[in-house]
Amino acid sequence: MNIRNVRDEFPILKSKIFLNHASVSPLPLRSVEAMKKFINDKVKAQSTQNVDLEFWKNKILNSKSVFARLIGAREEEIAYIPNTTFGLNMVAHLLPYEHGSNVVTNTLEYLSNVITWLKLREEGVEVHFVRDVNGRVSLDMLREKIDDKTVAVAIGQVGWYNGFRHDLRAISEMVHGKGAFLVVDAIQSVGNMKIDVKRDGIDFLSCGTYKWLLGPQGAGFLFIKEDLIEEFNPPIVGENSLDPNLVEKNIYEGFDLFELKYSRGIGKYEVVHMNDVSYIGAEESMRLILNFGIERVERKIKEIDDQIIEGLLEIGYELQTPIDEEERHAIINFKTKDVERTLNELIKNGIVVSRRMGGIRVSPHFYNMRDEIDKLLEILKAVKP
Ligand SMILES: Cc1ncc(COP(=O)(O)O)c(C=O)c1O
Repeated sequence: MNIRNVRDEFPILKSKIFLNHASVSPLPLRSVEAMKKFINDKVKAQSTQNVDLEFWKNKILNSKSVFARLIGAREEEIAYIPNTTFGLNMVAHLLPYEHGSNVVTNTLEYLSNVITWLKLREEGVEVHFVRDVNGRVSLDMLREKIDDKTVAVAIGQVGWYNGFRHDLRAISEMVHGKGAFLVVDAIQSVGNMKIDVKRDGIDFLSCGTYKWLLGPQGAGFLFIKEDLIEEFNPPIVGENSLDPNLVEKNIYEGFDLFELKYSRGIGKYEVVHMNDVSYIGAEESMRLILNFGIERVERKIKEIDDQIIEGLLEIGYELQTPIDEEERHAIINFKTKDVERTLNELIKNGIVVSRRMGGIRVSPHFYNMRDEIDKLLEILKAVKP
């Protein structure tokens, strides 16, 4: 599969230069088609009862396995969740806290990975903040805030507004050394880089599919490291959380539910009925990325990022993204005196980016082209105050 074939999947690319994947990405045509077909089949099945939905059920199941491959996990470690924030909440409320326990987050996080933890203050848990310095949070800065009372360290693998990239392997060693858990918000990294939860020592990872995975909204995944699945129980429960024998008995025979006996395995954390049509789309989109090759995707994005950064520096823009290649990925943010005017000029020229944290965020995916970036830089040069 080459870039041209991939670009054909996104009609928007014919009229716009889309550099906004850190926001909401366009859906590939193949995902839209699959979702439409599924809905048609479902309607047919409901009216005639003789359409086999097995193919679609397998596709939904396969979405777990594709996601697992993208992050180096096993599908038995992946739960369906509606979005990233839901998964972070789930983890925040299943961990064990004692008097004086704390959790550590930082000022580079998107609000989901902050409020989730702030809510714990209502239960007496302390929240320690690492304050970023110039858009960076170093290992030493984290170390200063982690102590023997730390239960969890919450990290966005790639920073949502400036692309700051954490060294999760080093962080997890430190976190585990203190007996704490590493909780990762990965919606800005899964789909744009190769991830290996085992190598990086990630305990929990939460991710929606509508950004870099090119999926629809309403489909997300929560990774829970194998040996933690049985160690904990979900803080909220649904049918899947319950021992299947009890479910059957209480549905088909009669009420006999005076005690909560959990099901085994990752399904116990799946308390919301899944949005089936979204997972059909997500499966197609994620396979597109997997077929192109996640290493290739990562390389391409790096090339594009380098082109953008070089160009911005040459024109004289100030970056909110670290320049060091090891410390950034996918997302670039630059400051300009007149954000509004710059944005309007980009919009007028069909370039889609976002205004974030006092600057402009550019987030290209692997199918963006050199000449699209040339055009972006040309406009930015012309509007530079
Ligand atoms: C880093 C990060 N985490 C979480 C979210 C919210 O994700 P969701 O809608 O899947 O809960 C966003 C959305 O912009 C984000 O950038």
